[in-house]
Amino acid sequence: MDKKTGQRGEGRGERSPTRRETRRRRGPGSEARASARPETAQTTVTVPEVMAAKGVRRLVMVTATDEPSSRLADAAGIDLVLVGDSLAMAALGRADTLSVTMDEMVHHTRAAAAGARRALLIADMPFGSYQASVADAVRNACRLVGEGGARAVKLEGYRPAEVSAIRAAGVPVVAHLGLTPQSVHAFGGYRVQGREAEQALVLLGQARELEAAGAFLLVLEAIPPTLGRAITQAVGIPTIGIGAGPDCDGQVLVAADLLGLTTGPLPRFVRRYAELDTVIRAAVEAFAADVRVGTYPADEECYPDPPGLEAVMARCLAEG
Ligand code: KIV
Repeated sequence: MDKKTGQRGEGRGERSPTRRETRRRRGPGSEARASARPETAQTTVTVPEVMAAKGVRRLVMVTATDEPSSRLADAAGIDLVLVGDSLAMAALGRADTLSVTMDEMVHHTRAAAAGARRALLIADMPFGSYQASVADAVRNACRLVGEGGARAVKLEGYRPAEVSAIRAAGVPVVAHLGLTPQSVHAFGGYRVQGREAEQALVLLGQARELEAAGAFLLVLEAIPPTLGRAITQAVGIPTIGIGAGPDCDGQVLVAADLLGLTTGPLPRFVRRYAELDTVIRAAVEAFAADVRVGTYPADEECYPDPPGLEAVMARCLAEG
């Protein structure tokens, strides 16, 4: 027994199990995952903690676009808050993610950083911010951290050189494979990826290479569950699924989708946990009704008149 930690130690001369061995022993879905809340509920979630969660507990990520959404996610005990480029649709009323600029991402990341006290804040690298050169990728990743306050960045697609260079600059990197929305035109629409065995094997190989390049986390979007499971087993870093089945090491949803703030057809993987559009609309309608009938503001919603002011005002109005 280790006196300091109270843990039963490995025998003298024995090495500790590697992360991959620990994961194999525990396996996905083992009882070690039963704890719904991370043990570090009061401290900041770090990159090494996220990596160590693989095979131990499921990770939870949600997107945020500003301080309130990030603060509420943080208060709910979320591990990872992502300022995704989906904010183009969720917050900016755009049709897709392609038009979001670096300046916009920095602006929203900075707002979200003010709310993420415990959760690990990750910012998306927008379209055009890393595709032209590795130098661009490093420069823009550093902006999201330095100006925006992100603690890690995410970029889409098979980009091992960019992942490696950003990581070498000291910025933790999240990779993203499958239906990567910045490639929507190349895919010919928002289509499930990796359905054919050949493409599935390519994605599996890319996942391994992105891990080797230094990614600490891998988002898998809109792929068959079997591929999600296979990639999760094949890599030593945690996978976060969005439409990638139940066997990923964690799950992410766009906050506006799970809260019921988005309209129109939803992807199959979205589960609504609230209908906030109805709640918000009803609240604003009630306010409008109160204003129109004169029941807002009530006395208790007004600042008290100082003594004598009413008389002074009455005299002034009477004198014209
Ligand atoms: O932009 C985003 O919200 C994302 C998630 C869907 C993973 O990339």
